[in-house]
Amino acid sequence: MAFNKYPIGFFDSGVGGTSIWKEVISLLPNEDTIYLSDSKNAPYGEKSKAKILELCIKNTNFLLNKNCKLIVVACNTATTNAIDFLRANYKIPFIGIEPAIKPAALTTKTNTIGILATKGTLNSSLFEKTSSNYRANIQIEEIIGKGLVELIEGGKLQSNEMKTLLEFYLKPLLKKNIDSLVLGCTHYPYLIPQIREIVGHKINIIDSGEAVARQTKAILTKFDLLQQNTQKANHTLYINKEKEVLEQLVSDLKYNVKVVEKDF
Ligand code: SIN
Repeated sequence: MAFNKYPIGFFDSGVGGTSIWKEVISLLPNEDTIYLSDSKNAPYGEKSKAKILELCIKNTNFLLNKNCKLIVVACNTATTNAIDFLRANYKIPFIGIEPAIKPAALTTKTNTIGILATKGTLNSSLFEKTSSNYRANIQIEEIIGKGLVELIEGGKLQSNEMKTLLEFYLKPLLKKNIDSLVLGCTHYPYLIPQIREIVGHKINIIDSGEAVARQTKAILTKFDLLQQNTQKANHTLYINKEKEVLEQLVSDLKYNVKVVEKDF
């Protein structure tokens, strides 16, 4: 059976994973996609591992019912807590999002990098394993971005509350002589303009979007799953809360995008 024509699935605790989804659809313009925004349950970052796993299984089953041929877990917290289970228990390939520590570690001149992520990501054993590969040579300053996801989900990207919270997290990091800031949550790329205003232009801000898009293409190629048709692709985004914030975030795109409110 040819699975090539089936869509790529994405899920996230909310709207932020669209930062990854945008990179993937830009690199693979012929692929249909289905994106699941579990905004009703956002944020995942402060939940227990068992609860995160339960939500990831529910999201995966939703996407499998839509015949997805590959799933991008477009959420760092979900990846670090559930990707091993998903890979072991489902037959399709999964792409996960891990904080991009490697490129930061390879380019830092001050030997000190910052990472902004959720508690669920920073406390996970997968993050511990990945970061321990670098800790012998560089200092990794970790900051939990509590509250940032809630403000993004609430449509408060440009608010004073957001500015105050970002300053509270980032100013102490700057004092530690970091020269790279890794964004370890897929919601955070939407904050880059505000982060830039606080950290200036000398800090390298690194997110995982492009690397994940390249990895998605590589895995589809490896398993002979790339879409063969060259028709304009269709993208359906499901959200289990009011759809306005999600619509706003994807409104600049010139693709066939449908945003659907659906309880799940
Ligand atoms: C969250 O839901 O707390 C953040 C999602 C992420 O880690 O990417």
